[in-house]
Amino acid sequence: MNKLLLMSVLALTGALVANAQNHLIVDADQGKGTISKHIYGHFSEHLGHCIYGGIWVGENSSIPNTRGIRNDVVKALKDLQIPNLRWPGGCFADEYHWMDGIGPRDKRPKMVNTHWGGVTEDNSFGTHEFLDLCEQLGCEPYISGNLGSGSVEEMSKWVEYITFDGESPMANLRKQNGREKPWKVKFWGVGNESWGCGGNMTPEEYSNQYRRYATFCRNYGDNHLYKIACGASDFDYNWTETVMKNVGNRMNGLSLHYYTVPNNWQDKGSATQFDETDYFTTIQKTLQMKELLTKHSTIMDRYDPQKRIGLITDEWGTWYNVEPGTNPGFLYQQNTMRDAIVAALNLNIFNQHCDRVYMANIAQTVNVLQAVVLTDEEKMVLTPTYWAFYLYKVHQDATLLPLSLTSVSYGLGNRKLDAVSASASKDASSGKIHITLVNIDPNKVQAIETELRGATTKKVSGKVLTSAQLQDYNSFDKPNAVGIRDFKDFKLQNGKISVNLPAKSVVLLEIE
Ligand code: AHR
Repeated sequence: MNKLLLMSVLALTGALVANAQNHLIVDADQGKGTISKHIYGHFSEHLGHCIYGGIWVGENSSIPNTRGIRNDVVKALKDLQIPNLRWPGGCFADEYHWMDGIGPRDKRPKMVNTHWGGVTEDNSFGTHEFLDLCEQLGCEPYISGNLGSGSVEEMSKWVEYITFDGESPMANLRKQNGREKPWKVKFWGVGNESWGCGGNMTPEEYSNQYRRYATFCRNYGDNHLYKIACGASDFDYNWTETVMKNVGNRMNGLSLHYYTVPNNWQDKGSATQFDETDYFTTIQKTLQMKELLTKHSTIMDRYDPQKRIGLITDEWGTWYNVEPGTNPGFLYQQNTMRDAIVAALNLNIFNQHCDRVYMANIAQTVNVLQAVVLTDEEKMVLTPTYWAFYLYKVHQDATLLPLSLTSVSYGLGNRKLDAVSASASKDASSGKIHITLVNIDPNKVQAIETELRGATTKKVSGKVLTSAQLQDYNSFDKPNAVGIRDFKDFKLQNGKISVNLPAKSVVLLEIE
């Protein structure tokens, strides 16, 4: 091979660590607070095949299950160290009457799921099944109570049914239904999207309703509820302001919903058929999360300077047109390398805002929107988004390390974005440092020089998630098209790590 040819091959593969134009300095001996593990939370609604088919198949199914819950999905989520699971909605939560979902399954009343396809909900997956799922997953339940169409009494009794250890009508009913000991439930949502599907309220009306409902959600014994108020959609800062003013310390958390919709709500765009312009817009819209968190936090800071109230981004992710031929009410979409990049960017942003963001829940766990798992009868695939979560689980409950990043731009037409995004943390028990890096540029390798200040680097190892095309995805026929592999395209020299981030990639560095 002549020298020129060799040079161009190396440059194309990125094996040549060119003079890095991207620089990262991490202060390894300083801490900026803890990245709550709950930032890595999930959300599962009675919607399409998220619960039914995706999680719950029933005890008599030929699909391997434990008490009706799919073993393969449980294993996949446990491997992600899923910290919490939000249920039963979404919009469904505000028309869900929990008493319909307890007792013998064949006697449970059926209802219409008016929000999601008008299908019959037979209530076979209810409180006991959900809490069994959380026990199997080893994660914390996050229950969204019905404030929209349910009563104060109904919500109050649900808390009593689940958490009261003693003699009471609801605790006795729970025992009759086979569960002697109460469960522990910390996270309790008081209404969902009350500005829309949860009742079309003004923030003033909602604040008053919240105060009433939350009063009767009691702490029984040592079960202390972390009450989460319905927060804003997107850029509705007035909602945050009003609820902070009128509810204040009566809540522990305030939610925020923001979806990445590439086009518009009427025609959101395809999950798999997109070009670079669509990609650029998707990334640009994703990065608005930074502005949203900053501005909502600034309002919260005025009322809660101690940052006692958590910002709970309990619905986020990409939202595309449904896959052709599927029920429009089921929100089933494919998941490509683009989605993995969206997930990784959001997770970097949440990590950086962990002083205020206590929890986040990607929508939704299985078969709905930006799912980490897709199923088709007995088959299951892990999506590129799954693998982004897999790489990032090292940040759970780790100490956020301050960093300063200088990035070149990735541009399209006259639009420009920083090509590289990062976050870094130190694991509390092992002391290992983890840096997650995203190169959003779909065409170019980005060379980045990383300097760790206040630590001696002895050993570095890496993992990468990338793919030939942004449009690549894992199908039931090709379940391993996009995944992670060991990453070695870096060099440790004089305490600095020079890394070649492949085009459209997510990289995890582990530093000892
Ligand atoms: O995640 C799908 C829906 O999006 C949820 O039910 C609702 O809360 C939001 O509008």
